[in-house]
Amino acid sequence: MAAWWQDAVAYAIFPLSFQDSNGDGWGDINGVTSRLDYLEWLGVDLIWLGPLYRSPMIDAGYDIADFTMIDPVFGTLEDFDRMLTEMHRRGMRLVMDFVPNHTSDQHDWFRQSRSSRDNPRRDWYIWRDGKPNGEPPNNWADNTKQPAWTWDEATEQWYYHLFLPSQPDLNLRNPAVIEAIEGGMAYWLDRGIDGFRLDSAMNLYEDELLRDEPKDEDLDSAPPGWMDHVFSSDRPETHALIARFRRLLDRYGDKVFVGEVQAPLTRFMRYYGRTEPMLHLPFNTQVMKTEPWKPRKVDASIEQYMQLLPEDGWPNWVLGSHDVPRLATRLGQAQARVASLLMLTLPGTPFIYYGDELGLERSQFSPEEAVDPYEPFGLGRDAERGPMPWSSEANAGFSATKPWLPLGDNHRECNVAVSREDEHSMLNLHRRLIALRREHPVLRGKEYAPAWGDETFLAYYRTGAAGRYFVAANFSDKPVEVEMPGEGTILVSTTMSRTETVSGMLTLAANEAVLIQLTDSGSSDVS
Ligand code: GLC
Repeated sequence: MAAWWQDAVAYAIFPLSFQDSNGDGWGDINGVTSRLDYLEWLGVDLIWLGPLYRSPMIDAGYDIADFTMIDPVFGTLEDFDRMLTEMHRRGMRLVMDFVPNHTSDQHDWFRQSRSSRDNPRRDWYIWRDGKPNGEPPNNWADNTKQPAWTWDEATEQWYYHLFLPSQPDLNLRNPAVIEAIEGGMAYWLDRGIDGFRLDSAMNLYEDELLRDEPKDEDLDSAPPGWMDHVFSSDRPETHALIARFRRLLDRYGDKVFVGEVQAPLTRFMRYYGRTEPMLHLPFNTQVMKTEPWKPRKVDASIEQYMQLLPEDGWPNWVLGSHDVPRLATRLGQAQARVASLLMLTLPGTPFIYYGDELGLERSQFSPEEAVDPYEPFGLGRDAERGPMPWSSEANAGFSATKPWLPLGDNHRECNVAVSREDEHSMLNLHRRLIALRREHPVLRGKEYAPAWGDETFLAYYRTGAAGRYFVAANFSDKPVEVEMPGEGTILVSTTMSRTETVSGMLTLAANEAVLIQLTDSGSSDVS
């Protein structure tokens, strides 16, 4: 029998931007609880919530100051417990973000660590002497492409950070640190959550010898300071630690371990675990990263992923996140629908990024309104973190006051209230596709076989004991003719306006994708 997370449709919430309940302009826990009816109506059942922990919010909560406290901006622990109860009552599960790679520099651990060289917590972070000439210990660059080491005047040493200087990396070679992290995990598992999303999973360890990294010569467009992170990422020790975290989760029974892994596919697949289980679902961003958005490229991306997937590995699909430009902005509205139909009909667990089900586009903002600390480096992510537009009321029903980030460009046409009423909306397309996954078990299975395609379209089969399905997607802005592998009935089209039976040649309108249930299980072979 499939595990609950294999059957699930996942929905990613960026908590600061989902719903403000107390009128301060920031999203919060009670806001999420108040919108669970909507999520239930939509049909999603695995909710991944971004970090809620106490934090100075320099990096939107990915800079944790206490792993076992809720930040007041989000509410209280009682609010959290109520939200969790309400989710479970609706048959939904909660996956929390978890960030063991680093903390905020405001975390008590770091405060102690930096207070003196002989503080017992000194070794909880990565401190080193510089080179004799006064330079940092090595040439590593952080994710803003600045030196990854920051000088501490008081104790005259450098500390290492992969992200911002205000996010010092924990020293996971120290067993006491691992135990403290596991204490934090156990705290939330004991409260009844259903799993974790492991942040920055590949970057937990660094080379013990701190060897200099080479410039990344493969990246044509590599800006100065861009290194090939061979010594600060994907280190062998990382695998053992993730397996250890997984064992902790498994002790709690039927939990899910999701993780952020960014690597070429062959190395990526190792994060499922080879000798021992690691992540159930390392985030698959293959299709999301496919450029240019052309059918042959996308087809190849899907196939390569499916082929390299370990025998017992379960697929998943991610089209958007709080770190990359909005789906509808990247691909345009019509192709965003095509991409969503693919994601919800490919085998495996789909992850919908909040707002993408509406076709929400980027938020525009002036330089003064920018919040993300990556913005000054040209890497800002505010545009994809805009408030969820609920209605055409003031502030799109997100808040009684001006939201912390500007609303997305098209919030008037694509908010929840308007989209629910429009039977052709992107929102209703999502709802229909999710309902179809529930009704048709084959769509929830793992089987997938590519069919034909060309420069304009791609097609694939989903086959199982209970039937055979055909998906065809037109990537071009002209109609295309696709040869049908038999007779079938259109279950859904991205236009939300066809349900006829087709055979012979299928005409797809410009930018249209369809899911068809084949009636004749006959002659054309899937392979
Ligand atoms: C992950 C998060 C990102 C955050 C970073 C540092 O990549 O997705 O938003 O800035 O980790 O924790």
